[in-house]
Amino acid sequence: MISFILNEKPVNTDCNPGMSLLDYIRYEAKLPGTKIGCREGDCGACTVLIGELANGKVDYRSVASCLYPLINAHGKHVVTIEGINLNNTLSPVQQAMADHWATQCGFCTPGFVMSFTGFCMNHEAPTLQRAIEAIAGNICRCTGYKSIERAANDIALLMKEKDISDPVGWLVNKGYLPQYFSDIPQKLKLIDAYVPANETDAQLIAGGTDLMVQKPDYIYEKRVKSTLNGQQPQGIAIVDKTCTIGGATKVSDLISSAELSLHFPQLKDYLMLVSSEPIRNMATVAGNIVNASPIGDLSVMLIALNAKVLTIANGITREQPLHEIFLGYKQLNLIPGEIIQHITFEIPKNSSQFSFEKVSKRKYLDIASVNSAMLLEMKNGKVENCRISAGGVAPIPSYLHKASNYMQGKELNAEIVNRTVEIMQDEISPISDIRGTAEYKRLLLRQLFIAHLQKFLGKRFEQVL
Ligand SMILES: Cc1cc2nc3c(=O)[nH]c(=O)nc-3n(C[C@H](O)[C@H](O)[C@H](O)COP(=O)(O)OP(=O)(O)OC[C@H]3O[C@@H](n4cnc5c(N)ncnc54)[C@H](O)[C@@H]3O)c2cc1C
Ligand code: FES
Ligand code: FES
Repeated sequence: MISFILNEKPVNTDCNPGMSLLDYIRYEAKLPGTKIGCREGDCGACTVLIGELANGKVDYRSVASCLYPLINAHGKHVVTIEGINLNNTLSPVQQAMADHWATQCGFCTPGFVMSFTGFCMNHEAPTLQRAIEAIAGNICRCTGYKSIERAANDIALLMKEKDISDPVGWLVNKGYLPQYFSDIPQKLKLIDAYVPANETDAQLIAGGTDLMVQKPDYIYEKRVKSTLNGQQPQGIAIVDKTCTIGGATKVSDLISSAELSLHFPQLKDYLMLVSSEPIRNMATVAGNIVNASPIGDLSVMLIALNAKVLTIANGITREQPLHEIFLGYKQLNLIPGEIIQHITFEIPKNSSQFSFEKVSKRKYLDIASVNSAMLLEMKNGKVENCRISAGGVAPIPSYLHKASNYMQGKELNAEIVNRTVEIMQDEISPISDIRGTAEYKRLLLRQLFIAHLQKFLGKRFEQVL
């Protein structure tokens, strides 16, 4: 049985755990406000909020319900557009959309309203920029976006007063959210932990943002087990300069980690280039690795950090460098049933710098043509440590070990930089596809390498090239 609260009502269902939450909402619960657009996480029409208990309070995040496997709803509060309705009055988000004529055919509107409502309910300082970021996964074909931006501005201004320590309580007190939200923490506490079926051949799923796009029918029909129902480690810990990330940690958790941003001040900017807010609220680190896309952004970042992967199968654990796990296109050095529990890496020294660069057709909500990360430590004017990784230039996310090794101990000057570029061109094998020709990808990698150096060296960069 999967048990959760759908808006005001408790639900116990024996529907297939691999069914999408969207299908449950529309076809089982008969709530048609949540719309079906792309079914691939790209349009935002199906956006709902998922509330999860944390320290006695419920934290709400937006998700794409078309990719959200029903199994992951266990123990959560699922909020659809119907669940935020107030008696005889519009919510402030609905009012702002109406005031600015930010809806025409209305098909996208429930999704925008839910994303904005998620923005109102989160614990962050409510700026216009955050309001706009919250709707980065929502597409509208009718209005143009200016009227929606004006609505965002109104909403952000209204939220300036909110109590970010208890946003939901504040919204309920103000009459901006229905009263029933106050009882949700108590109701969620009553739901027992999920008991996974003991099926060895069940398909492992995490956030579902790759699997539910690639084979939704298979996932629907197959028994699934999830890494997100409390069985697998989640979260980030930094102890004695070693960072350990649970395999089931979501991308949005990396963004909100104060500890990580202390060591990687630009990490949020880099991770904002990964998908959109609802997808980041679902997508996990291990999922990114095991999907083994040659352009997986997290894999590329973690390879440059020399991350190691700790896996378990049949009670036996093993650790291997992340870059060695990728054997060939979508081929991994994992045995069937082996689960990634943790990813670890040493926090770079203070004298090190880390950079991530990505070129895609659109800046946001697009996957890379080529991406690259680089870790550089300089000592007495020479390269003490260097790791360069790249995606989109080989069948796997790659560690450019020849180029990285060449730079060790060298001074950074035009000759060394040009020679490094030549070496990296020799160790890649890009192909022409819809993301660009092989020649274009070679050029992109060179430019991304130069962009890393420019970031690291600042004004001194002109003297190097
Ligand atoms: C609209 C959209 C935009 C996207 N944009 C980006 C982007 O910009 N950059 C990017 O890199 N990716 C992007 N992705 C891809 C995807 O979001 C990521 O790869 C994500 O990290 C996958 O994680 P998941 O938890 O959703 O994986 P799932 O789909 O749940 O699983 C993927 C695979 O990993 C396996 N798996 C999951 N957890 C474990 C574990 N602990 N141990 C062993 N195997 C495991 C599953 O069995 C499955 O084979 C995008 C996807 C969508 C739908
Ligand atoms: S239907 Fe388009 S994101 Fe879900
Ligand atoms: S109002 Fe028609 S798609 Fe947005």
